[in-house]
Amino acid sequence: MTSPTTAKATEANKTLVAVAGMHKKFLHEGRSVHVLRGIDLMIDRGEMLSVVGPSGAGKSTLLHILGTLDLPSSGTIHYEGHDVTRYSPSRLAAFRNHSLGFVFQSHHLLPEFTAVENVMMPGMIRGAEKTKLRADASSLLEEVGLGHRLTHRPGELSGGEQARVALARALVMNPIVVLADEPTGNLDSATSDAIHQLFFDLNKRRGTTFLIVTHNNELADSMPRKVSMRDGQIESDVRRGPGTGPFRTVERGGSPADAGSDDAGPDAADLDPTEAAD
Ligand SMILES: Nc1ncnc2c1ncn2[C@@H]1O[C@H](COP(=O)(O)OP(=O)(O)O)[C@@H](O)[C@H]1O
Ligand SMILES: [Mg+2]
Repeated sequence: MTSPTTAKATEANKTLVAVAGMHKKFLHEGRSVHVLRGIDLMIDRGEMLSVVGPSGAGKSTLLHILGTLDLPSSGTIHYEGHDVTRYSPSRLAAFRNHSLGFVFQSHHLLPEFTAVENVMMPGMIRGAEKTKLRADASSLLEEVGLGHRLTHRPGELSGGEQARVALARALVMNPIVVLADEPTGNLDSATSDAIHQLFFDLNKRRGTTFLIVTHNNELADSMPRKVSMRDGQIESDVRRGPGTGPFRTVERGGSPADAGSDDAGPDAADLDPTEAAD
């Protein structure tokens, strides 16, 4: 029998992120703009959740604050039981580099560097050993289907391939959570589907926690948990039951160009609509 203390410890261990009573106000032209209005959010280890809501709802602001790129005006953010809002700027920078992975819509790859060098960058910043880092970065690129593009520069990669490099870079330090803000917002639907499938594969294989801000309803609806925001508040927070199956593609009468693209290739073959639960 588990004692109440053990049960409590297990519960705490399951919780990766705990946001409580969080507000964010910006000062804009002398006026205070109240953007986040009391956010409470718990994220479990290994969870995959989408954050949806109309433009201006505060999704990016929430993601930035969760990513410690900005501070809340009030409230707390605990990662693994530690309130990161109390960290010094240098400790916060180290935490961000070690523990968080970011993927943004514009992938922010460094144009002068190759794919593998871009993926190595977070480790270079941390001062990791270069040979091992290069090996890790190469195997991650392999894992996201880009083993054949290691020495290409971003300008020599398609949008979907750039997204994969950004994803590999987000994963290279083995982060406790990947925070993504409309990561496939600029991509065509077949390419997006392939990248979304990759999120699911990585979550399953590595147990990586993903929080994905998205306008893509199919993606949001296929994820195990969907948080909807409106006017700086969480309007609903819905979990689907276990065993609801993998992400599924919906027939869209796809264009031959999409179907034949590099990105659609191996991933599209993995997507079996007949496997879909629901
Ligand atoms: N630095 C800022 N200063 C003032 N207002 C901001 C700032 N950043 C965001 N906002 C405002 O906060 C609201 C939410 O923005 P954002 O989080 O980007 O929304 P979403 O990502 O849901 O579209 C918007 O009304 C936006 O204008
Ligand atoms: Mg946004």
